[in-house]
Amino acid sequence: MENKTISTQAFSDQRPGTSGLRKKVSVFQQPHYLENFVQATFDALGGVKEKQLAVGGDGRFYNREALQTIVRMAAGNGLKKLVIGRGGILSTPAASCVIRKYGLDGGFILSASHNPGGPHGDFGIKFNTANGGPAPEKITEAIYQKSLALGRYLTIENPDIDLDAQKHFMVGAMMVEIIDPVNDYADLMMELFDFPAIAKLLQEKDFAFIFDAMHAVTGPYAEEIFCRRLGAAKESLLNCAVKPDFGGGHPDPNLKHAKDLVRIMFSAKAPTLGAASDGDGDRNMILGDNFFVTPSDSVAIIAANAHLIKGYRNGLKGVARSMPTSCALDAVAKELDIECYETPTGWKFFGNLLDAGKLTICGEESFGTSSDHVREKDGLWTVLFWLNLLAVKKISVKEIVETHWQHFGRNYYTRHDYEEVESGAANKLVNSLRERFETLCGAQFGLLEITQADDFSYLDPIDNSLSEHQGIRLIFKDKSRIILRLSGTGTSGATLRLYFEKVEKNPAAMNLETQAALAELISLADELFAIKKITGRSQPTVIT
Ligand code: G1P
Ligand code: ZN
Repeated sequence: MENKTISTQAFSDQRPGTSGLRKKVSVFQQPHYLENFVQATFDALGGVKEKQLAVGGDGRFYNREALQTIVRMAAGNGLKKLVIGRGGILSTPAASCVIRKYGLDGGFILSASHNPGGPHGDFGIKFNTANGGPAPEKITEAIYQKSLALGRYLTIENPDIDLDAQKHFMVGAMMVEIIDPVNDYADLMMELFDFPAIAKLLQEKDFAFIFDAMHAVTGPYAEEIFCRRLGAAKESLLNCAVKPDFGGGHPDPNLKHAKDLVRIMFSAKAPTLGAASDGDGDRNMILGDNFFVTPSDSVAIIAANAHLIKGYRNGLKGVARSMPTSCALDAVAKELDIECYETPTGWKFFGNLLDAGKLTICGEESFGTSSDHVREKDGLWTVLFWLNLLAVKKISVKEIVETHWQHFGRNYYTRHDYEEVESGAANKLVNSLRERFETLCGAQFGLLEITQADDFSYLDPIDNSLSEHQGIRLIFKDKSRIILRLSGTGTSGATLRLYFEKVEKNPAAMNLETQAALAELISLADELFAIKKITGRSQPTVIT
């Protein structure tokens, strides 16, 4: 078992995006590509001698190969101990749980989240720190800088290890522990939720539950938690076999991609609760009988009802949402008299607030909700929260949401994505808007008056780091908002995201169809941004 120093050439495209480094599988398969990024991470951490890390992934194509490379490199870099999820599997929230529970110094998660997998799909790697959360920008930036100057990486000569048996062994001087990827996470869920009450609900005659794992990582978690620990029928679970190409699907739990679930939940005899999760298990979609819960509403409802749930009985320290997420959560925070923080897009921005004890619940419009139990968004946690809430309230999902609206107002909300737009055109659109802030501010369009036009920047209240250019905001006198930003997770061209929000306080006007309720704002954006002219697109690729 010989230590080796391999000379390599730096790559110029390894700057981590919103959530780690994501590229086409073929990019990661280039010689030294993954190795360089892993070494840059180790170097950015000041080396890993005497450190302990976790590694696991969402089971997508190249997961196992990448993991073997990381094992050799970790040993070559003198890591003390590597904890690996059996089969190379760890969902993103489970990785966060494991890092925290065992006091590790961090870990790698191998995933491109909800992006399609397979040989022609995407692969990704992200580094989480000792708090269990995504590396903050100062670390991702240090990784990038190291990657730009990298000339060598360290590894050892060693055959592939057996990933499928739970055991301890040594690779060189490094200890390897293969753990059950599900148990620690499932145990944590049992601490937070009333499992006996949920189990009872699942047996009730007029209650039905369905969960779609979309052939992604939550399959084995769902089987353990819903079936083995809560007694749900096997038929409650859809697509639970983890497949390297996610069965050819796009593992993004939304109305467009979670097709099997949507068909069932929008049928005549729909179950009471339907839910889905994404590639790496951090996203969720919640559906009631013929009813879609927007993620922005979901996090607001979770915060408003947290006191009814075992793990949150003592109240909330504060809440947070990403800037484009609707302001439904702000209304709840106001009533609870707690702080509601507004952060840039990406879970990493919640980390400092959570660590400083300022937050209990946080969420993003992009189907992400979680609490301070881990430092990642958590799909199954959200599903369990809704199950527990239904067990307490004994009314339908739709009734829970509508009652919430009646009390707090309804924030009509939609996001329009234009995917794979030519990067030059997308940048032109954004830059031309930046130049027009002054003229836009105060401009009147019919009944709509813009009172604020700016580029969102965020000063982290804990470490005073400043993140600029985090999305363009047009805020109107009636509190409506149009937000525009470019995605930081796409792997080809640019993805333009437009977010629309309108607050309705009149109970008689709360049952409009979402796109109709937001039509005025949508057509104003068409006009102001000249999307069709600049991008050549007449329709968004995805509407959520
Ligand atoms: C997207 C979402 C963002 C989420 C991220 C990772 O990032 O918008 O909320 O945190 O995926 O799941 P984006 O592509 O917009 O940069
Ligand atoms: Zn994800």
